Amino acid sequence: MPAIGYLNGEFQSPDSALVPIDERGHNFGDGVYEVLRVYSGRAFLPDWHFERLERSLHAIAIDNPHTRDEWAELTNEAIRRSGEAEALVYLQVTRGFATRSHSFPQARPSVSMTVRKVPEKDPSLRGTLLCLPDERWGNVWIKTINLLPNVIAKEVAHRAGANEALLVRNGEVTEGSSSNAWFVRDGVIWTAPLDRYILAGVTRRFVLQLAGELGLSVREQRLPFDALKDVDEVFITGTTSEVQPIHKVFVDESTRSALQLLPDTAPHTLLQQVTNPVTLWETEGTGDVTAKLREAYADYVSRFRMLEV
Ligand code: PDD
Repeated sequence: MPAIGYLNGEFQSPDSALVPIDERGHNFGDGVYEVLRVYSGRAFLPDWHFERLERSLHAIAIDNPHTRDEWAELTNEAIRRSGEAEALVYLQVTRGFATRSHSFPQARPSVSMTVRKVPEKDPSLRGTLLCLPDERWGNVWIKTINLLPNVIAKEVAHRAGANEALLVRNGEVTEGSSSNAWFVRDGVIWTAPLDRYILAGVTRRFVLQLAGELGLSVREQRLPFDALKDVDEVFITGTTSEVQPIHKVFVDESTRSALQLLPDTAPHTLLQQVTNPVTLWETEGTGDVTAKLREAYADYVSRFRMLEV
């Protein structure tokens, strides 16, 4: 089945859907987005995604072009047309099309969407994380399409052989470049609180609910970077990664001090190479808490697939 694209009222192939050159998303990254997982042809937790979309749009004063019901209808229609059962919906709203000028134009918001098949995941995969300074702006709770620091962090991590970057701001862990980060220490789950320094992950919200149902204790507090060496389990969550166990966390010796405080000097490149990796934390298996949450997540998804939830 081909992927499906949608642009301002028209369904078409993602390869032929074109935005004008003076599109605010293209020129300024002036827009927000959502990514939803589709299981067995059904969008997962759509209300929570549309709720976050509303918050993001409101934060940057873009009028929400649709009600929640309309968003749900549009998303379902796109999924139906794609014919994909296991897919990702990417949807984006920008401030619209207008001749380039920093000030807000009189323009209608522009809506685009794609539905693409999700590649199958290796269920035994246990990831590795590279710690990097969190150099993003102070409003990362807004799901803006401005993702330059995130894509650079991910690329640096990949080049160093890690699956994901673990971002550290002023000596405290915030989140991953495209995921939320979790730690288990003496039976207590740690994850950063919902403030301006992390994205309020829909999967995070769902996993917190599962943790509550399982009677697990949770502390919504940023983990000090120095405490990383003492944790028992590490996992990340996200719409695509679901609950992903981590088996190793490392850092490049040369960036260690920047995790506490960013230096004032500008580097020549942000794509710095990891030349002196130091393992901070490593484990053999998947910890009990991570395993329990993974199982609960998988259980819920299989009931969701069978329309039981
Ligand atoms: N990323 N933190 C960041 C910075 C993210 O980009 C994401 C998701 C998350 C997890 O959020 P959720 O559970 O709602 O997916 C946390 C998406 C998937 C992306 O950019 O593709």
